[in-house]
Amino acid sequence: MHHKIIAWGAILMIILSSIIPMRIRNFDLSTELQGIISQSIYILLGFMSYLFLLLLAKDVIRVLMIAMEKAKGQTFVGLSSANIGGIGIRKAVNSVLIIGAFGLTLYGYRQAVKVPPFKYIDVKIDNLPIELEGVTIAQLTDLHIAYPCQTDWLRDVVEKVNSANPDLVVITGDVADQKASRIEKEIGSLANIKAKYGKYFVTGNHEYYHDHEGWIQKMEELDFTVLMNDYDIVEHKSKSIIVAGVPDYEQSAKHDQYSDPEMAMEGAPSADVKILLAHQPQNIYEASMAGYDLQLSGHTHGGQFFPWNLIIGMAQEFLHGLHTYQNTQLYVSRGTGYWGPPIRLSAPSEITLIRLSKSNGING
Ligand SMILES: [Fe+2]
Repeated sequence: MHHKIIAWGAILMIILSSIIPMRIRNFDLSTELQGIISQSIYILLGFMSYLFLLLLAKDVIRVLMIAMEKAKGQTFVGLSSANIGGIGIRKAVNSVLIIGAFGLTLYGYRQAVKVPPFKYIDVKIDNLPIELEGVTIAQLTDLHIAYPCQTDWLRDVVEKVNSANPDLVVITGDVADQKASRIEKEIGSLANIKAKYGKYFVTGNHEYYHDHEGWIQKMEELDFTVLMNDYDIVEHKSKSIIVAGVPDYEQSAKHDQYSDPEMAMEGAPSADVKILLAHQPQNIYEASMAGYDLQLSGHTHGGQFFPWNLIIGMAQEFLHGLHTYQNTQLYVSRGTGYWGPPIRLSAPSEITLIRLSKSNGING
């Protein structure tokens, strides 16, 4: 009976949580109230789904036990936990599962809302001029700022990025989940990010859900160079790096802004390193044809929380981490923030620090 209530509760929460937090932005509510309502629903959803999973695991174990006992020629009734201690044990097991689901939700919440640690990635590039060795790019992606409660978090993220003294800072899309005009204060600290040579932004799919033109303008006001199938040249110790960027792979096409890595570098002079910023890893195939050395992406959130990281991992070729596709390397960040439920489990958030280094030709 309890199982049925919990299962139906979980299904109802999944339906509600997919409707309310999305629709809530259409109502004339303050962003504070929107935040409280949708975060509460999402946290409850997280709790219900972990409880559901734990109950499922319990049932699987039960079925296995029955099968084992049957195989031994014994009847399940004789050895079942219900008979050893009666109702007491069953209740105790259920209580442990409820506490377990609560614990997982709380742990996942703390992982999602914390300021992410640095993730250091050494990208070895063939024929990299020695002058460019050690150039550092800080990558933020998938911040998904939507509510006032994220203002301090973003300020701390900005301070952390500045403490690394990066040469370049890039944001590879999904910066927010509201119209720019509704969260000007919340997003304001992005203007304080400091980079030696430049700050670059490309759109993600979520910018297109919340007035992408408004976001492009806002990011320019915040001192970012927005690369829409365009490039910029960074000079360092008389060597050059092309930083090109494309708009989101999937949504831009619906707004006549095709995501085109080749066009992004059109007319560019030759350079020592060519880097592409693209929200979705899918751009890698065209990026490699266009001759980029490295593509930086996000979008996947690394699955964000168990068990989605495993499920999405089966469908996504490039879920997270450093990959090589033909002559192009691809780095996929698990993202700086979270989307939907404020929960991360076995897919930690990150502030990525990418360091260019020379391939020694043996292991590079
Ligand atoms: Fe995202």
